[in-house]
Amino acid sequence: MKYNLNFNDVAESYLFAEVADRVAKYSKANPDKKVIKLGIGDVTLPLVPEVIKALHAAVDDMAEKETFKGYGPYEGYSFLRDAISDYYKKMGVALEEGEIFVSDGAKSDLGNILDIFDKDNVVLVPDPVYPVYVDTNVMAGRKVLFADASEQNGFLPMPDYSVDADIIYICSPNNPTGAAYTEAQLKEWVDYANSKNAVILYDAAYECFITDNSLARSIFRIEGAKTCAIEFCSLSKIAGFTGTRCGYTIVPHALEKDGMNANKLWLRRQSTKFNGVPYIVQRGAAAVFSEEGMKQIQNNLSYYKRNAQIIAECLDELGIPYTGGNNSPYVWLKCPRGMSSWEFFDYLLFNAQVVGTPGAGFGRNGEGYFRLTAFGSRENTEEAVKRIQLLLK
Ligand code: MLT
Repeated sequence: MKYNLNFNDVAESYLFAEVADRVAKYSKANPDKKVIKLGIGDVTLPLVPEVIKALHAAVDDMAEKETFKGYGPYEGYSFLRDAISDYYKKMGVALEEGEIFVSDGAKSDLGNILDIFDKDNVVLVPDPVYPVYVDTNVMAGRKVLFADASEQNGFLPMPDYSVDADIIYICSPNNPTGAAYTEAQLKEWVDYANSKNAVILYDAAYECFITDNSLARSIFRIEGAKTCAIEFCSLSKIAGFTGTRCGYTIVPHALEKDGMNANKLWLRRQSTKFNGVPYIVQRGAAAVFSEEGMKQIQNNLSYYKRNAQIIAECLDELGIPYTGGNNSPYVWLKCPRGMSSWEFFDYLLFNAQVVGTPGAGFGRNGEGYFRLTAFGSRENTEEAVKRIQLLLK
């Protein structure tokens, strides 16, 4: 027996596990200190009433012979896929029957999708970005190239035709920087991918935070995207499903190469390795897309958007440069006094008991930066901001 040696090439623990570990050690040593966690992007508001109502009704369905459900369709129940399709229609995107696949979240699918691609593909990942893209490819032994994101390009790298990439990751609004592509910029990526016969794996998990109409909420708004892109989205951020687990992936029928069709391969992969999201959860997810559900989740989104503003206002007062906070639940700031990301992490934890995420965990270009999330409670966000102000002013 041999283990997968590629695991030697990834960091010993996943970024957010490392953060949690350090915080747990600190809390154990300092039980009297109240730590405020604005690290991992985990929501704090409960599910909205419309979702709760649907979940309860679905539990009742499971109690009756006539409405009980066993295994569901591999790609998800049509009541949910239709609801998602309508959501896209309102965004001006027409999806065909069979292009939506319901899953237990974007993170799983972003890793699992790699099953349908050859090991020898060259992968292009923005730096900094959500660490899952790099880690999953390194585990599979793939070569990863980086597209540098920096203050100079507004943390939005554009295609470089001298680079021959096969699998391109785009996260917009970006995790962690909050920077988001305009539709015109995304068109350049779509043209690049089509010209290179490459695929774009588009992570739209934060699209619900976009308020600026020129920014893209789905890559399928862009002409030509259906021949080069797969979109991943999640109900975690839009509707607070981080603990409930539901997401979806859109694989266009038009995405094919060498007689092989991505949509068919994905269905083959899912039906072999995945038995679907629980019926109860899918009913709750469908309620998110109902008229009343959509209204209710907007209140929660506004709450988090206000938290982001509160953090941004604090940084403005302190004169600390940052991006995000607008069209994104993340605020990406430059570590003050030339501190490295992990130095600032410790400084903030030890002196203000506030937890954020060190930028270096998102890639080489994240060094010297730090991410704060707006998903905390209002009370904790306000308290964290007070402590940060006191410490840094
Ligand atoms: C984050 O904090 O970057 C996200 O919550 C991670 C995730 O969605 O898996």
